[in-house]
Amino acid sequence: MAEGSSVSGGTGRIAVTASDDVMKVDLVRDRLSRAQRIVVLTGAGISAESGVPTFRGEGGLWRQHRALDLATPQAFARDPRLVWEFYNWRREVLGPLEPNPGHNALVKLEQRVPQFTLITQNIDGLHARAGSRNILELHGNIWHVRCLGCGKVAEDHSVLPPMPRCPGCGALLRPHVVWFGESLDPSILSTAFEAVQHAEIVMVIGTSGTVEPAASMGMVAKRKGACLVEINLEPTPFTTLYDTSILGKSGEILPMICESW
Ligand code: OAD
Repeated sequence: MAEGSSVSGGTGRIAVTASDDVMKVDLVRDRLSRAQRIVVLTGAGISAESGVPTFRGEGGLWRQHRALDLATPQAFARDPRLVWEFYNWRREVLGPLEPNPGHNALVKLEQRVPQFTLITQNIDGLHARAGSRNILELHGNIWHVRCLGCGKVAEDHSVLPPMPRCPGCGALLRPHVVWFGESLDPSILSTAFEAVQHAEIVMVIGTSGTVEPAASMGMVAKRKGACLVEINLEPTPFTTLYDTSILGKSGEILPMICESW
């Protein structure tokens, strides 16, 4: 959470933030404890404290690499070796990283709620590593590979060769992730929207809200009457539209919200 900053008042300095944040945490915890159907939507920010680079902030992946050269079907058709080099490098970076207290808090939340759906844009697999169960990975999973020949999807944590091939049919494998310009898996997408439309509370955590369709999910829930909570390091385009927005690190705020009912 933000440090307790202060402003100058007529008679001295007045603390303005810390108690506000405590009240918001209490309010969200209370609402969650009474809800039957909760959806959590996460983005790269929830994994930042595990050491996973985000995409758009300072040091973000898309600040250092051109997405169009590395994360499109055209890029893969043009130069599969280069695209695999990028994904193998990301697998090397992600391999040793561990879930953080934010991921762990969501595991506890899931155990307490009758209907809990975790929708993530992340491909790092850290929610599953932490122990979350009902996860919808909108953008795929970097630890899964898909065969361009037979279409088989397999989990593979090994160190892959520069141009990995399918052990079954010998065709080239690709990362089982969604690239720019590709459609999301329709069954994952419809399950996600179904959950969002029936949620009493949707918590949107660590996403800049710039990539559709995840960006619109909060608003879809709001139109159906859900309470919307945002946890993010900085304001997003949706902050003012949400019922409650808590600015700070998800790895610090989520344990406060989820672990002390
Ligand atoms: P972004 O990098 O766009 O946004 C990450 C957000 O997390 C920013 O708003 C940060 O302020 C916030 N943040 C950073 N550290 C945080 C922390 N410790 N706690 C809470 N918030 C924190 O990442 P996404 O919104 O996930 O798609 O990006 C969406 C999609 O764009 C990704 O799934 C990826 C990318 O292109 C594909 O590759 C298809």
